[in-house]
Amino acid sequence: MRTPFIAGNWKMFKTGREAVTFAEEFKELYQDTDVKTAICAPYVYLGLLKNLFSGTDIKVGAQNAFYEDEGAFTGEISVQMLEDVGVDYCIIGHSERRQYFGETDQTINRKLKRLFAGTITPILCVGENLQQREQEEQYLVVRDQLMGALAGIAPEQAVKLVIAYEPVWAIGTGKTATPQQAEDMCEFIRNAVEALYNEDVADKVVIQYGGSVKPANATEIMNMDNIDGALVGGASLNAKDFMEIIDF
Ligand code: G3P
Repeated sequence: MRTPFIAGNWKMFKTGREAVTFAEEFKELYQDTDVKTAICAPYVYLGLLKNLFSGTDIKVGAQNAFYEDEGAFTGEISVQMLEDVGVDYCIIGHSERRQYFGETDQTINRKLKRLFAGTITPILCVGENLQQREQEEQYLVVRDQLMGALAGIAPEQAVKLVIAYEPVWAIGTGKTATPQQAEDMCEFIRNAVEALYNEDVADKVVIQYGGSVKPANATEIMNMDNIDGALVGGASLNAKDFMEIIDF
């Protein structure tokens, strides 16, 4: 009953010309599918991609947003501005933002609240690092991240949420979590959502896995019961590879 959702996260890659080339190639390859898809691109390409993908089902996402609508916040982009451009999704709390840009569960919570007040669907990223996994703390870490991020978010909002489980040790390393490891955590996340809200929210919330997803491992991952999609980094930079993942 949950529609699979596969999103690309381009991170800080591609020139404008490369973004256009990708969009043209991807539109050619993209066919009718039951899988929802989006490209989460650098801010400067969001308007461009919205135009290039208009008339298709391909959605566009941002990789971050600020919680204030306007003000003296040099260098920030507000949710309101993203809404203006027609952005459909926004990644929040990616581990790279937590690691390099001081993102905390509190700022993530404020950003989620602002997104839920508007029209953009948040993709909330959670996941443990290698040390936490080795110390078998992964469930505690992810539970705390969920509780922090979702504090004060109502069930009717949470039901629209996309959660991406991205174990930090599997990002860009070529080292994928085994499908069973990914499934175990996604099941844990669904149970945690049920404990925080109710069964209906847990049944409806879309949970993605992210971390070295590629055409060769997409089917196995997507076939897991609690995994409804993927958040794809490196392999989403190539239109053919990304399409193969969508066609899992
Ligand atoms: O958000 C996607 C991500 O962090 C995974 O990146 O390159 O391992 O697919 P990658």
